[in-house]
Amino acid sequence: MRKQIVAGNWKMNNDLSQTESLLEALKSKERTTEAEVMVAPTFTNLLQANQALKSSYIEVVAQNMHFAENGAYTGEISSSMLKSVGVKTVILGHSERRAYFNETDELLAKKVDAALANEIRVIFCFGEELTDRKAGNEEAVVESQIKNALFHLEASAFNNIVLAYEPVWAIGTGETASPEQAQDMHAFIRKTLSGKYGNDVADNVSILYGGSVKPANAQEIFSKPDVDGGLIGGAALKADDFFAIVNAF
Ligand code: G3P
Repeated sequence: MRKQIVAGNWKMNNDLSQTESLLEALKSKERTTEAEVMVAPTFTNLLQANQALKSSYIEVVAQNMHFAENGAYTGEISSSMLKSVGVKTVILGHSERRAYFNETDELLAKKVDAALANEIRVIFCFGEELTDRKAGNEEAVVESQIKNALFHLEASAFNNIVLAYEPVWAIGTGETASPEQAQDMHAFIRKTLSGKYGNDVADNVSILYGGSVKPANAQEIFSKPDVDGGLIGGAALKADDFFAIVNAF
């Protein structure tokens, strides 16, 4: 049975004090489902978040990392540095990093390798632009992103990979993909995985949907057979909304 996961991507939000307040609010919430719960604060708050959540089931996740172990990469963070502050999972390939920091599939393949080599689980993000979807190219774009960054891996690597389909046109826009659109793409992704690695791998990889998931739409999206949870942005910054989504399964 593949894992159900709800992860909150805080992006560049919350200083130390705001992080402490939000974590305290999250700790007071009751999880009424079996879903794994994760939050991704900014780098400067990872250690404090892990200390605040150490007796909690909520996992602290990083939003990014560099592929090198160390060296002349000003401003970057390595996988071993993440491990040193207790982080065991990292988000890679978010569309905002692809867009603003020119992260290519090839660079992301190196980051994925570095994370897995350090036994850090990867939440790998991908998704089409609105122009791709309007042209009917969404499946080709998603297939290319997945193949270019992940299909060099052995099947066993997928034990430590979570996929996150985030149509760029739905991120932060309030324009959520319909449950049917999400299901169709997730089923396509699973078929693509199966074609390369077989059904055992494809059936056990959790595929999250991200893009304007809110308390009002989460249950319908999560009810789809190939949707295993969500990667949440704006709604993750409010404890009530985030747990309404966690409990939406
Ligand atoms: O990584 C999740 C994020 O991109 C989704 O953002 O605000 O549309 O939930 P949002």
